[in-house]
Amino acid sequence: MAKTITVKDNASGKTWTFPVMSGTVGPDVVDIRKFYAETDMFTYDPGFTSTGSCESKITFIDGDKGVLLHRGYPIEELAENCNFEEVAYLLLNGELPNAVEKKKFQRDITYHTMLHEQLHSFFSGFRRDAHPMAVMCGVAGALSAFYHDSLDITNPEHRRISSYRLIAKMPTIAAWAYKYSLGQPFIYPRNDLGYAENFLYMMFATPCEDYEVNPILAKAMDRILILHADHEQNASTSTVRLAGSSGANPFACIAAGIASLWGPAHGGANEAVLNMLKQIGNKKNIPEFVKRAKDKNDNFRLMGFGHRVYKNYDPRARIMSRTCSEVLKELGIKNNPLLDIAIELEKIALEDEYFIEKKLYPNVDFYSGIIFEAMGIPVTMFTALFALARTTGWIAQWNEMNEDPQQKIGRPRQLYTGSPKRKFKPIKSRK
Ligand code: ACO
Repeated sequence: MAKTITVKDNASGKTWTFPVMSGTVGPDVVDIRKFYAETDMFTYDPGFTSTGSCESKITFIDGDKGVLLHRGYPIEELAENCNFEEVAYLLLNGELPNAVEKKKFQRDITYHTMLHEQLHSFFSGFRRDAHPMAVMCGVAGALSAFYHDSLDITNPEHRRISSYRLIAKMPTIAAWAYKYSLGQPFIYPRNDLGYAENFLYMMFATPCEDYEVNPILAKAMDRILILHADHEQNASTSTVRLAGSSGANPFACIAAGIASLWGPAHGGANEAVLNMLKQIGNKKNIPEFVKRAKDKNDNFRLMGFGHRVYKNYDPRARIMSRTCSEVLKELGIKNNPLLDIAIELEKIALEDEYFIEKKLYPNVDFYSGIIFEAMGIPVTMFTALFALARTTGWIAQWNEMNEDPQQKIGRPRQLYTGSPKRKFKPIKSRK
């Protein structure tokens, strides 16, 4: 028998029955599409903690068990065995590429990495001290003014080309945002380099001398990009879908995603973690900061801790912590005071009743900042890196939404608590 759920209005005794939908894995979902029409009531769910906003086949998270799957594959196996381009292909197409498909995809992405020359002037319109996320938001949005030939969202070929352009150009945009802040010349992408390698090259090369990217660091960067590639219907992905639900072009939608990611409760947390570790400054100060994090009257939170979905160790944080040790070893950094503080902080928090009871564990951002800093990436670029990796997930989700026959413009309702209708007051009689 098909599953249903019955809702009862205790005042009138009226009941309504709604279908229950089952996914392949994960909790069932109550189909409330007819709820308003039938009950004359809305549902109330600020922060969408109990709301499934769409059907998706891309990413699955079991927050209680700390499981993350992309198209069914565990993140640990993808991070261990694939490069970023393979994961991007998987997210976009649903299957891992074979050798021929992988080569073709890499070539297609590589051939879209350059930016239109006129986009240079967009960079120079920003102040030198502009945050890279401000630059990325502006330049990603501006792409829609340059690539008119791929803006018809009803045309699958246009959607494919726009997707490739976004994935390919984002490392160039991010690296150039950094170069601009330094006052150094922009470095053009190189077609003989892999995705992560090319990004590091554009960040750190200068025209005056040869620059070779350290392969261990390129591998670590590749893995970091994989870990950030997609994460189900988080704030920025939902923003991309909501913006796209009106039929907006993909470049504009990704710019909206970048804006949403920027906040400290989301992608901005990696920057906030590093600032927090510096603020703690010494292992002996940790108890004082843990005490502050637990104090309801203090708005300080342990950055890099807690997650809306994970109520267990974030599987990405585990891989990130291992990658962190590998990178520091490769760079010959034996003692990193910030890493020492992070390890000790994690240990203390994981044994503390407050964090245990609220199921607060390290998330993906807890260790990433330490790796980035060791690689010579400045703090303000941390979230930009996240945005460049997440562009793949955003665009895969945007494509899925556009192909979904159930897709409608997103239009939530509200619980109105303002004034009911009242009589207009002419200005003379207003106090
Ligand atoms: N430090 C101290 N207390 C915390 C923390 C934290 N990092 N995170 C949550 N709590 C507490 C809250 O105060 C709340 O306590 P209460 O129930 O007594 O009121 C309880 O745990 C639940 O927290 P909420 O904020 O209601 O949980 P929500 O799911 O809305 O927030 C979030 C999740 C935003 C990630 C939160 O844990 C947080 O602010 N963490 C720090 C920022 C961070 O690391 N963000 C990165 C998230 S991962 C990502 O975007 C890649």
